Parts: sequence; structure tokens; C-alpha cells
Amino acid sequence: MAKPKLSFICQNCGAGTARWQGKCDSCGEWNTIVEENTSGGIGGGPQRGRRKGSPSALLPLSGEMEEAPRIVSGIDEFDRATGGGIVRGSALLIGGDPGIGKSTLLMQAAAALSRCGNSVVYVSGEEAVAQVRLRAQRLEAADTSVQLMAETNVEDILATLAEARRPDLVIIDSIQTLWSDMAESAPGTVTQVRTGVQALVRYAKASGAAVILVGHVTKDGQIAGPRVVEHMVDAVLYFEGEGGHHYRILRTVKNRFGPTDEIGVFEMSDIGLREVRNPSELFLGERNEKAPGAAVFAGMEGTRPVLVEIQALVAPSALGTPRRAVIGWDQPRLAMVLAVLEAHCGVRLGQHDVYLNVAGGFRISEPAADLAVAAALVSSLSGAALPSDCVYLGEVSLSGAVRPVAHAAQRLKEAEKLGFRQSVLPSASADLPRSGEIASHEVETLPDLVGRVA
Ligand code: TYD
Ligand code: MG
Repeated sequence: MAKPKLSFICQNCGAGTARWQGKCDSCGEWNTIVEENTSGGIGGGPQRGRRKGSPSALLPLSGEMEEAPRIVSGIDEFDRATGGGIVRGSALLIGGDPGIGKSTLLMQAAAALSRCGNSVVYVSGEEAVAQVRLRAQRLEAADTSVQLMAETNVEDILATLAEARRPDLVIIDSIQTLWSDMAESAPGTVTQVRTGVQALVRYAKASGAAVILVGHVTKDGQIAGPRVVEHMVDAVLYFEGEGGHHYRILRTVKNRFGPTDEIGVFEMSDIGLREVRNPSELFLGERNEKAPGAAVFAGMEGTRPVLVEIQALVAPSALGTPRRAVIGWDQPRLAMVLAVLEAHCGVRLGQHDVYLNVAGGFRISEPAADLAVAAALVSSLSGAALPSDCVYLGEVSLSGAVRPVAHAAQRLKEAEKLGFRQSVLPSASADLPRSGEIASHEVETLPDLVGRVA
């Protein structure tokens, strides 16, 4: 018998090393390297034997096409995030912190899909059937035809699915509990997770059923995280939320069949997740309009405009190196805006602590928020509140120029709908609306903005 092949694999990123080390060279995480037996699993081990290749067909690029068939849940926020429904025969990964609500979301989606006539199998490796039933009852999903399976062995899951009435959707909760006879390391390790996911992705392609895989994001690296299988699946979504807030965001980071910048917004209640159809109203909900240091940014998330409040606090620092704390935005991006303010506008914050917070725990990734950040910083420094009916949008370049942003018209329309009457935006915004109630103040450079605000 062949000698088992042992190697050391990082449980965070999946990189392998020849010997144990405290820190992974590939991703920089500490204490994530675990010795695993990698014979058998991925790529086939010695026991599979050698096979001579047989020729496959070569096809022209132009040929018959078909629109990817999708199954739609009717939960709009969920369907939007998946790019208009889950594509049949595809594998989708939903990652998120433990306890964020992944099982809740998927039980609700399973119930909705089953009500639309799809056959859904929910495989729970974490909870017993009674526990899943209890949750389903609480979520008012118990009266649907969703079928349950409490199983963790991949071969057994696949055998059961082969016997079942061709399911349209299979949910696996979670990938970290999967184990396969084909791999010899412990459940939850990279090799086991990859082997299990690979078998399920193959099942999806062969059977035409959509497979949703749940993966816990892990901080300590004791079990393999969703990152090690991101490349194997067709779509990756993350379910996020901030501690202390009730709402949750389903964010697409990869999608072979749709856009990747979409979000779905939900609110966690005592009877499960509720859709939030107008996120701007939620994020602007508790606004103190008279406080200095707050600016409203007219943002875009995928195809949908979202208005959020950006809060800044600037205070003289008692420390040698002033503090810079950012929640919901990019730290380097803040450093850049501060540098441009100092170099081109004479706004000196080198001796000040700067705190920046995106209200409601929302996370912004667009550079278009630069102008709103700058406005909030200047307002906090001067102690004068900004007009409460004004939105800001625009990207700031290192030269101090304010660059145009995409979809300006759509952003302004949303602002107008929510009662805003003014906007400060780049003078070169390509698609400015021709009509509308909202006054546009165009700025060409950051000093123009500071002149307006200060
Ligand atoms: P869960 O879906 O089990 O999280 P995950 O699968 O991501 O680990 O959700 C767990 C949390 O959600 C738990 O703290 C309780 C809360 N919750 C509600 O607030 N309302 C509900 O209706 C349900 C089912 C859960
Ligand atoms: Mg769960």
C-alpha cells in the first residue's frame, strides 16, 4: 500500500508547506497551519490508478446558446443578490460569521422556493432535524414541502440525493461539517472541505440541480474557511452585519452568471429576516441634522442607489501620533483625502485625531464617497453643520481635482425622492439630469468644496 502523503496546509488560504511553521507565508495568518493527509483527495491519489486519456470533442465558439435557466425565490432582495435567481446546475457559496443568520436566510429561501413549486432538499450537518424543524416553525416555513436530511458524509448525501425525486435545489449547511471517505484528514480541514465541495459541485453540474453551500468565516483558522473553495463555485455571496445592528447585507463578490456588486438588504426580526426594500430610509433613519461633521453620500450598490450618512469627528490630539480610526470605509482612502485637504486646501489635520464612521454599520467601497468624507471632515473641524438637505458625490484625485462618478442622475433621483433639495457634485458629471427639483452645485476641485463648506 502506498505510504500516506502528509503535508502542512494553511486552514485559511489552503497553501501547502513542507514543514510546520507558525505563520503562513501565503496569507500571513498565524497558527493556521495544520498537518493533513492529502493522499487520495484532490487531483486523485495513488489508489486511483493511472488511466490513459481519451479524446474529448472540440467545439466552435459560435454555436447554440441558451439563457441560463434560473430558479427565482420571490424574495426580491435574495434574487437581486444572486443576479436574478439561482442558475440551475450551478454551485453557490454563502459565507458569513457564525450566528449572522445564514441558516435563517436559507431556510426562508428554501421555503419560498418550495412554495413556487421547486423541490428543495435541506441538508443540515450542524443541527438535528428537530432543531431545524423548530426554526422552520418559527419562520413559518414548516408547512412547505422542503425535505430535510441530517447528514455529514458526502457519499451518503450524494447517494440519498440520487434516490430523491430530482431536486431543483440542494442546500448544504455547512461545508465545514462535511467529510468524505475519499480524504483521510479530519472534518473541517482544507482537504476534507475541498473534497466534499468538489463532489457537490460535480453533482450540481451533472444533475442540473442548484447547490447552495454554507460556509462559516473563521478567524482563528481552526477549521477551513470559505476562501479555500471560492474558486471552485460559480457564485460567492457574503452575509454580513455589524454587531448591535439588526440588519444584514447579502453581498455578491463573485458571480459567473451575473453582476458582482449587487446587495440584498434584510432586517433580523423575531420571526426571521425581513426584506428592506428601501435601504436609504434605514441608513438615514436616525440622523441628527444639526450636528457638525455629518454629510450624506449618494452612493450606488450595484444597480441600486443607496444614501448613507458619513460621520466625522476631528479633535485636537494628545498623542504624538494622532489617531485615525475608520469604520465602514477604507483607511488608506481616508489618509489620501486628509493629505489632499492638507496639500491643496490648507486644511491641517496633522495634530488632530480623526474618526470616521459610516452610519448604521454600512460599508462603502466606492471612491465616489471622497467628496462626502471631505465635507464631513471640514464640517467637523469648523464646527458648522452642513445643510441637512444636501447630498455629496464625487471622487477626489491626488491633484485635488474632483472627478465625475457614474450614474449621477440615478443617485440624484434617489436623493430627490427622499426629500433632499441640493447636491454638491463634480462639474463634469456626464449624465446630469435635465430636469428635477434638486439644485446642483458643481465643484471642480477640492478647494472649491472647502470654500463652500467652511
Ligand atoms: P442562524 O441562522 O442560526 O445563524 P448562522 O447559520 O449564520 O450561524 O441565526 C442565528 C441568530 O439569529 C441567533 O442569534 C438568533 C437570531 N434569530 C433571530 O433573531 N430571529 C429568528 O427568527 C431566528 C430564526 C434567528
Ligand atoms: Mg447555521
